[in-house]
Amino acid sequence: AIDISKLRAQTGHITIDPGFKNTGSTTSDITYLDGEQGLLRYRGYSIEDLADKADFLGVAYLLIYGELPNEKQYDDFVGKITRHTMVNEDMRKIFDGFPVNAHPMGVMSSLVSAMSGFYPESYSKNDMEEIDLHIIRLMAKFPTIATWCYKKSQGHPINYPKNNLDYTSNFLQMMFALPVEDYKVDPIVSRALNKLLILHADHEQNCSTSTVRLVGSSQANLYSSISAGISALWGPLHGGANQAVIEMLEAIKEDGGGVEKYLAKAKDKDDPFRLMGFGHRVYKNFDPRARIIKKSADEVLAALGVDDPVLDIARGLEEAALNDEYFISRKLYPNVDFYSGIIYRALGIPVNMFTVMFAIGRLPGWIAQWLELRESGQAIGRPRQIYTGETAREFKEIGDR
Ligand code: ACO
Repeated sequence: AIDISKLRAQTGHITIDPGFKNTGSTTSDITYLDGEQGLLRYRGYSIEDLADKADFLGVAYLLIYGELPNEKQYDDFVGKITRHTMVNEDMRKIFDGFPVNAHPMGVMSSLVSAMSGFYPESYSKNDMEEIDLHIIRLMAKFPTIATWCYKKSQGHPINYPKNNLDYTSNFLQMMFALPVEDYKVDPIVSRALNKLLILHADHEQNCSTSTVRLVGSSQANLYSSISAGISALWGPLHGGANQAVIEMLEAIKEDGGGVEKYLAKAKDKDDPFRLMGFGHRVYKNFDPRARIIKKSADEVLAALGVDDPVLDIARGLEEAALNDEYFISRKLYPNVDFYSGIIYRALGIPVNMFTVMFAIGRLPGWIAQWLELRESGQAIGRPRQIYTGETAREFKEIGDR
């Protein structure tokens, strides 16, 4: 084991906190989170109220600009986003070069990064009006690009945005409409999607948001910073968990539906398996988003008449874990990802698009945090380390090694 106190004596005082379990990287006015009480607020408004009463673009405005929009501000914001939903046709050439089975998160990260090349002012200018235009472009074009990934996987032509539709309906239309038949957006689906996006919209200094801030702290442009956040979100311990949850529940179903074997695997320290969708770095009581999503999963599946056996397995697994000493003592509860995949599935969204859905929701949070960082003039992020490698060594010629 590493003797930290000995190392500290050699290096001076450096806080070693791998994984930043107890180190704040910033102050922030955006999101309040109380892990003990299970509280989550955006700019002071409870997640329960926002999920129930607001719409996603209203919440995006709140996160980015600090206040809930009045009618005029809302109309202006939505109007601007609507005008920018088309994506430069040359972006398609980049997109077309990806193989059909490329993971949509890799494609999203690449194409958002490529946007900086289409808007080169993003890395040279720094005035707020200019930055605001990049914010609008990202919010507007991100769902359009996301739907390309799905359409390509199906071998279907892409759909252009229809700007008489609202944000979520437009997304659904681009995902699911076919040129050969009429497509009507189901308001139940649109509302459910709206709620899911709101619940994912920000979560203070999580892995992807911290990544966006760290990249942004070097004064990298907005597109590059968000692209890095997408890459961080992709991992199965972060946003990728929603895909991993459904894959785990499917595996349990294939295996006969019994959850005990999987609970035992999750508790076995020699087995790398973890119960996906369980546990959270900050929530040690319950995840308020999971509570809302669980209720919403019941409602959406009932309203759509979907009978998904995987929902029963999820319920059984949750109940077994909540009564198990291993999970109780470690304060491991279902997190936001545990039930979200079940709703996405009921809405017809394929499993490899789940993490992209998370990214669409998290986008305004990333933008708000990037903006806050920029406006604060905070120093470049540059953590320290304690060196544990070899001491000074003589160089050996290649023949002597
Ligand atoms: N299944 C089984 N055991 C678990 C799980 C789990 N899902 N999560 C944590 N544990 C155990 C750990 O093995 C550890 O046990 P120990 O004290 O005996 O060594 C203890 O609980 C504490 O866990 P840590 O890994 O130290 O907690 P940390 O805060 O670092 O990790 C994380 C949090 C990554 C979310 C973790 O709980 C996990 O891997 N969960 C599964 C993946 C997941 O659902 N991720 C989504 C997170 S939410 C989001 O990004 C939206």
